[in-house]
Amino acid sequence: MSSQHAVIVGGSSGIGLATAAHLLEKGYRVTITGRDAAKLRTAAENLDGDVAAAVMDAADLAGLPAAFAAIGPLDHLVLALGGGNGAGPFATVDLVDVRKGFEQKTMAHFACAQACLPYLSKQGSITFVSAVSAQAAMPGTAGLGAINAAIAALAPILAIELKPIRVNCISPGVVDTPWWDFLSADQKEPTFASFAARTPVGRVGRPGEIAEAIAFLIGNGFTSGHTLICDGGIRLGQ
Ligand SMILES: NC(=O)c1ccc[n+]([C@@H]2O[C@H](COP(=O)([O-])OP(=O)(O)OC[C@H]3O[C@@H](n4cnc5c(N)ncnc54)[C@H](OP(=O)(O)O)[C@@H]3O)[C@@H](O)[C@H]2O)c1
Repeated sequence: MSSQHAVIVGGSSGIGLATAAHLLEKGYRVTITGRDAAKLRTAAENLDGDVAAAVMDAADLAGLPAAFAAIGPLDHLVLALGGGNGAGPFATVDLVDVRKGFEQKTMAHFACAQACLPYLSKQGSITFVSAVSAQAAMPGTAGLGAINAAIAALAPILAIELKPIRVNCISPGVVDTPWWDFLSADQKEPTFASFAARTPVGRVGRPGEIAEAIAFLIGNGFTSGHTLICDGGIRLGQ
């Protein structure tokens, strides 16, 4: 058991919420954050354990120092926020949307990692949630791949600059979360079936599986500067 404090930015849904549940089970104290106060409150109410909630827009760079000051000391930061901006075929992808993707994910991760530093334990860690689009050559993901590869590039650099704080990254494959809710139920099923067919383990991932991998990166004191790809093997391009 641990009484360490983990802050999960983007903890009200999907991978972040599953990570909150997993860390609470392991005895961590957890603060979840997100932009939507009602969604955040519902998420916190449905979690068991020592959990707090703090409304935060991680893309509001100027507001982050005060947001982290309000949260106070923490041992681990998990950056699980991000949306779907930047997807589409390279030749036609909307550049405004790609820029928004960088602002909403890459810059937000970068700025949160910086803003938490005055409060982050030297024995603690930062874990970025990137995406397998950074490693897999999937058509239609040039924007997403660039957005997520930039995040993965931070882990080894920060592992040196911020030592002894450990800094890691996780790169999930396709995971069944509300991230995919831009698809209707009718669209989601064949989309997931197509991804499953291209994934060596034969299915898409579950948020809890990514949460387990994040908990490993947080808990293992000898792992730093690493990107852990947790994708069922889809990057291998079967
Ligand atoms: N699902 C997948 O297949 C998959 C695969 C690879 C990588 N990922 C990555 O994993 C991360 C989590 O995705 P998910 O699937 O768990 O998505 P999700 O279920 O949509 O969760 C996203 C979370 O981030 C929060 N959020 C979004 N923008 C935010 C902001 N500016 N400030 C603070 N919180 C923000 C959301 O809450 P609010 O909307 O209330 O702010 C929500 O809690 C994303 O970075 C995504 O790119 C997902």
